[in-house]
Amino acid sequence: MKESLTDKVTSLAKRRGFYWQAYEAYGGVGGFYVLGDLGTKLKDNIVRLWKKMFLDKYGFIEIESPTIGPYVVFEASGHVGSFKDAMSECLKCHNKYRADHLLAEQGIQVSESTRLDVLEHLMNENKILCPECRQSSWRVTAFLTMFQTNIGPYSENIGFLRPETAQGMFVEFKQIYESNRGKMPLGVAQIGKAYRNEISPRQGLIRLREFSQIELEFFFNPNNNSCEYLHQVDDIKMNILDEKKVARGDEIPYRLSAKEAIDKGYIIQPWLAFFMALSQKFLNELGVKSEFQRFKAKLEGERAHYSAQTYDQEVLTEKYGWIEVAGHAYRQDYDLKSHTLKGSIDMYVVEELKEPMREKKTLAYVNSKRVKDEFNGKASEIFVEISKYDPKTLAQKLNEVGKIELEGVVLGREYFTLKEVEETISTRKFIPHVVEPSFGIERIICATLEHAYSERENRVILSLKEDIAPYKFAVFPLVKKDGLDEKAKEVFNMIKAEGISVLYDDDGSIGRRYARVDEIGVPNAITIDYQTLEDDTVTVRKRDTWDQNRVKISEVLKT
Ligand code: ATP
Ligand code: GLY
Repeated sequence: MKESLTDKVTSLAKRRGFYWQAYEAYGGVGGFYVLGDLGTKLKDNIVRLWKKMFLDKYGFIEIESPTIGPYVVFEASGHVGSFKDAMSECLKCHNKYRADHLLAEQGIQVSESTRLDVLEHLMNENKILCPECRQSSWRVTAFLTMFQTNIGPYSENIGFLRPETAQGMFVEFKQIYESNRGKMPLGVAQIGKAYRNEISPRQGLIRLREFSQIELEFFFNPNNNSCEYLHQVDDIKMNILDEKKVARGDEIPYRLSAKEAIDKGYIIQPWLAFFMALSQKFLNELGVKSEFQRFKAKLEGERAHYSAQTYDQEVLTEKYGWIEVAGHAYRQDYDLKSHTLKGSIDMYVVEELKEPMREKKTLAYVNSKRVKDEFNGKASEIFVEISKYDPKTLAQKLNEVGKIELEGVVLGREYFTLKEVEETISTRKFIPHVVEPSFGIERIICATLEHAYSERENRVILSLKEDIAPYKFAVFPLVKKDGLDEKAKEVFNMIKAEGISVLYDDDGSIGRRYARVDEIGVPNAITIDYQTLEDDTVTVRKRDTWDQNRVKISEVLKT
């Protein structure tokens, strides 16, 4: 069978040190990879480009929060309850797999909301074979895919390795907001590791247990959600499969700009549409053409618990078909609201109104007599605790969760009197809403490498754009003698001194050296030959065209 491009890239990546499976000295552990020198340089360049396009241009900011969080954070965020995959266990050999993946391999599509008993029935009825022992006897259960640990030497002090960087930006929102002088809207990014205990990772860099995310949480006032930058992405036509198309199985996308997609109702938040278009452009800048990208809506049952709308940004690969490289979600106020309800810091923001307005609100007052009668000696402590909340917040909590949780006591609605009042207000409190573009760096690396890969005359060329190529230049002496090697070292050191990544190679024929740098994507190869010694000129050979030009050494960095 013809080797797919994806497989060719994987073997190139290992051979030349972009990336490889970790712990091979011990047989390898699924879902863990190492980025080598070329991989880390490529990653850094991708991240730098992302920061330029998403942060610097818009004045958005970045933070770095812990990768381990306490149980309560992930309980409040909904991950403890929802961050689970359906796991099918072979009852003969006890190997475990993602039920949806095994079914999909046999052409049976299920959704992330399909019930466990239905999945188990489908696995057994359709005689899905165990990839290991080829038997077909299954049990399907839910598996929490967060890695659990203990914080400190206390087994009851459970912590989790973060499954997304996002929660750090939500839990710390108030601090971030205040230290940025109450700026709204506010874009906050985090770039770092995320961990998911994937059940059976079998797709190399695409499904990892430890991977890197670039996430941007864009906080905005839901009463003013217009996006001032929409016109900047007018020229970008996205391939969009909206929910209706996905539900029908229609794979022919609409081709629309962000504005058109909003006007037609396919994207429900302008900022979400803007970031989707910008993300397409980002992938373009990495060398993935628009025709190999699409945005596929997640259906209601497939979306994460916090999302009112999600589009997966997908890139076409030869072996795996369309793979998700980024998720674009409208998270509403889900996370900030959850942390307000469970945590001790409220995540409200105060907005100065242009015009005062009349507003109805509900206030809650504790029924002191009832508390005194029922809680005796504890009543005064309860009053102190309750006094920490204003009547409006109390009423909001009662409306949202039906109870107020205090130190060791839970008070239901029956302990409060609710009053409707109307007043003139000049400020208004709101919990910001959030849209989130969330990228997986390793998947982007895979997509970028595959779309840069080509072969010519039995040689591999990696046409990485100059901005992201791990090495920008290579320097070769034609031969290792007659002073050519010393001159080449001089040129090499001159480029290095400019802080530009450059390789030196004097090993083997010049043709082989060109081939070696073509396949790792070095855009410019400089050769020092005998003429260099006479007139200080060198040849600069371009990776993609193999054209060679003679230029002055002082001009090489301008080529
Ligand atoms: P999938 O459906 O492929 O499991 P997901 O929908 O769970 O992905 P998100 O939760 O949206 O992914 O995560 C945001 C981004 O993080 C993804 O678009 C992807 O690029 C990356 N990502 C998620 N899980 C993994 C993983 N196991 N390995 C590598 N990258 C991942
Ligand atoms: N922050 C989105 C995700 O990782 O699921």
